[in-house]
Amino acid sequence: MTDQQSFIEVQFPVSKISKESYKERKAGQSQTLTGLGKWWGRKPLILVRAAILGLLMPASEDPVKDREIFLKILMMDADGLWTRKNKPMKNDVILENLSYRELKRYFEAPAELFTECLENQEKLFKQTVKENISLLMPKKGLSRAEKEEMTKLAFNRMSYDDRLEYCQRPEETQLENEYAWKEINNHLGTQARSLVELTRELGVRKFGHVPAVGDCFSGGGSIPFEAARMGLKVYASELNPLGGLLTWAGLNILSLPDDEIKKLKDFQEKVFDAVAKQVEAWGIEKNEKGWMAKYYLYCNETVCPHCKTKVPMAPSWWVSKKTNTIALLRYNEAKRQFDIDIVQGAAKGQIEACEKSSTVRDGALWCPKCKNTTPITVLRRDDVDKDGNPVYGLRRWGEKEFLPKADDVFQERLYAIRYMVKRDSKTEIEFIKKQTPSSNRKHGTHYHYAAPDENDLKREQKVIDLLKERFDEWQAKGYIPSSKIEEGYNTSQPIRERGWQYWHQLFNPRQLLILGIFLEQVEILAFNFLEKIFLVYSLLSLNALADRSSKLCRWDNGGDKGQQVYYNQALNTLYNYATRGVSAIYEIWASTLEPHSFMLENCKIDIMDARINENNSEFWITDPPYADAVNYHELTEFFLAWDKKFIEKIFPEWYADSKRVLAIKGTGESFNQSMIEIYRNLANHMPDNGMQVVMFTHQDPAVWADLTLILWSAGLHVTAAWNIATETESGGLKEGNYVKGTVLLVLRKLTTEATAFTDEVTFEIQEEVKKQIESMRGLEDKEDPNFSDADYLLAAYAATLKVLTGYKRIGDINVAYELSKPRDGKAIGPVEAILNNAIRTAYDYLIPQAFDSFIWKNLSAEERFFIKGMELEKSNVCQLGAYQEMARGFGVKEFKDMLASTKANHVRFKTPAEFGNRWLRGADPFSNTLLRQAIMAIYQSEKEQNPQAGRAWLKNEVEDYWNKRTTIIELLRYLSTTEHIDHMTHWKSPATYAKYLVELVTNDGVGVVDNR
Ligand SMILES: C[S@@+](CC[C@H](N)C(=O)[O-])C[C@H]1O[C@@H](n2cnc3c(N)ncnc32)[C@H](O)[C@@H]1O
Ligand SMILES: [Zn+2]
Repeated sequence: MTDQQSFIEVQFPVSKISKESYKERKAGQSQTLTGLGKWWGRKPLILVRAAILGLLMPASEDPVKDREIFLKILMMDADGLWTRKNKPMKNDVILENLSYRELKRYFEAPAELFTECLENQEKLFKQTVKENISLLMPKKGLSRAEKEEMTKLAFNRMSYDDRLEYCQRPEETQLENEYAWKEINNHLGTQARSLVELTRELGVRKFGHVPAVGDCFSGGGSIPFEAARMGLKVYASELNPLGGLLTWAGLNILSLPDDEIKKLKDFQEKVFDAVAKQVEAWGIEKNEKGWMAKYYLYCNETVCPHCKTKVPMAPSWWVSKKTNTIALLRYNEAKRQFDIDIVQGAAKGQIEACEKSSTVRDGALWCPKCKNTTPITVLRRDDVDKDGNPVYGLRRWGEKEFLPKADDVFQERLYAIRYMVKRDSKTEIEFIKKQTPSSNRKHGTHYHYAAPDENDLKREQKVIDLLKERFDEWQAKGYIPSSKIEEGYNTSQPIRERGWQYWHQLFNPRQLLILGIFLEQVEILAFNFLEKIFLVYSLLSLNALADRSSKLCRWDNGGDKGQQVYYNQALNTLYNYATRGVSAIYEIWASTLEPHSFMLENCKIDIMDARINENNSEFWITDPPYADAVNYHELTEFFLAWDKKFIEKIFPEWYADSKRVLAIKGTGESFNQSMIEIYRNLANHMPDNGMQVVMFTHQDPAVWADLTLILWSAGLHVTAAWNIATETESGGLKEGNYVKGTVLLVLRKLTTEATAFTDEVTFEIQEEVKKQIESMRGLEDKEDPNFSDADYLLAAYAATLKVLTGYKRIGDINVAYELSKPRDGKAIGPVEAILNNAIRTAYDYLIPQAFDSFIWKNLSAEERFFIKGMELEKSNVCQLGAYQEMARGFGVKEFKDMLASTKANHVRFKTPAEFGNRWLRGADPFSNTLLRQAIMAIYQSEKEQNPQAGRAWLKNEVEDYWNKRTTIIELLRYLSTTEHIDHMTHWKSPATYAKYLVELVTNDGVGVVDNR
């Protein structure tokens, strides 16, 4: 190693950073960058911040102090949490965390309540507090300081998770406390008074100048944004121009000071006002009574092939559940079609009729006239050719079309309008921007759902005419899309299902007209194309509109609003959809924008393939699309179709298409090759003491093995790996340690020439695994554990990779060959085999708390598996996956017979009674273990309600009983620890007998030598 180790190479507070990342993810739309626009898989800013600090901060001789300081800088220590606290704590929460003496100091409490609770009877005291919460009030006349003191006392007693609920995110705040900085500077030998000063100072110390953070897959821009905010130089590049726009906006817009942000907002207002004025002048949204339309609901219509009736299509005719509004189909004999009535405040019978009249069911059209169903694929006339390939039957729309032709399968029909009636004194434009809530009895906005009348239909025609007049001109100017949809995994769907071949066809005339007029006004009002800030922000706002105002926007009849196109990662076509009037657009167009005011110096953003990067950075932090299922290139084309011409004008040096062929995704040989190329290039553009962090989200050992080979062949050496739980799905972090996470691999340049063979490195790896786990153990905090089993296992991976990639070559591993092999899940490559071995070694170290480590090492794999499984159950982890993973780790193949339940989320091991005497000394390995015999002894004791029976059984049945006594005692003692666990009542009785048995066996024939 060329210089001092960094903090992140020695340790990382994974548990706290996971919790903070999770909190950030959960913040949804109010995350710092999400307001700028849609991106998939943005990395949490706190994770990036911690990684950068971890790279810059040197590891000292005192890892405990290092950790303390690291957490202090990130405001993740007790003081930091207290400073970040921005929500009030309720009295009952405060009370719950106070002692009796404290309660008496701060609260008014009837003395008689507590006569029974002597001070040390905590439980009784807590109970009394709980039952009498309403009688307990803070003393009158408590000073502010006293109140604060009391709150702080309680706050500091809460768990990290509970405290987080009351806090801002660390990336939303700044550490300003002078004493804290003094302590930090003392430890690090620095003179900083802010995070920016600190990172710059540490950077200069390491490199002689302020270092740059590079990211060649910048996407939504998290990494460059955080690096810039921390005061570092930034070099960002990204293949996709929409990613480029977002990265650019994060850096150049969010860094602006208040007054500049204000100008930007004013510009947005100006554009909106101009649009609203134009729409008013056209008279396309207001009816004769002066009502304003907020939403228009459209459906498809098609001819039933059986009875030739025209049938309106929708999977549900509910319009608004809040107001019991429904659409009712009424057959019109003369026209052989259906009239649609909109009924607000529908009666029960009407609602039932509505629910029965869904015309799209299970992929088929249901005709309310003749009651026949016709599969949609039949309507579309989809077929297969003579070779069995699918042929899609719909007519494909031509380049300039924006309406279906009269004989197309799917017609479009406006069936309902949500009108609003203004009842307050706001001006019209104020009202359009923000309606008074309807809950306001006197002035609240009155909503009205109505079927379109003749005049509404005239306005529809007017919209079409207006669009027709300007269609060509607007396409040429780039106000509406003109590009063709390229077939692809996601993009083929609208082509096949609707015949839409051009991006503008995903929008109806009303949507095209409104979105187009926005861009026209943007171009008019922005002085010229140098007003980049205004233009970029407007483009991003327009993208948000496109996402909410397309034919792919579902109508949410529960919330009375239109949904996003990208509520998931697909371009799903719909049979009925919502269209916004300008009054439903303001909230999206002028969404909130918070200034973050930071200095931006030396920041460069390129749009290009990562393979051709030519920039140097001291640190590369990347989050590659490796083994990632997101089709960034396809999904973004929906937006790029709108942005294209503007991007070309604002950034003449950029291209404006998604460069599909260059996009990296998935796995397999060609991806591996591209990844090697990219990372070799990055290694070449980094000084010898530079470092990299690669983030990725895959837990599959085979993907790991490939990625290792890739990074290794790129000339990089793994120095550490940490797993951060960042995903919000599946109920969150509390479920256990088995949530999806992001792995951070820390890498340096490989400088050695040394080579070795696999058998030579095996021992070295074992030692490294041990060393790594022991050092993590040493750092562990009993009160607030940082590492879980999963982290120790990952550490084993990391240690293995560290050793392997520390050699230039391992003689018998043919990297090129391994990376070219298809991964079929069967053959295990040499790296995977080595990884699996390391995992075994690690499992030797996963000793349950308070289990004798010497005895542990001598247990069989099955016994360890059972005991660790009991640990899982104790901590309420009951997913099958957790057990399977553990079985794999211990090398236990068959364990079904050990389980009481195999239901995915209710897994646990059998109790002694559930085992009974079946499967004792059977064919499976567990049935022959000492632990199984101990369990049997418990069962005997339970059955006879006498522990003597259990001991007698042991003495008779266990071969070599006297020599195995210590182990038996340890096993029984462990099983007895389940006696008082709230969610394990089924273990109460067996645990009690286990406890008695421990006594009996311990006192059995005292004096006999025992040496298993
Ligand atoms: C996982 S995302 C990065 C997300 C980003 N870290 C964030 O926080 O938003 C991976 C990115 O790599 C980009 N990408 C794919 N192929 C690329 C290539 N050949 N060169 C550069 N970037 C590429 C994708 O467009 C995508 O934005
Ligand atoms: Zn019919």
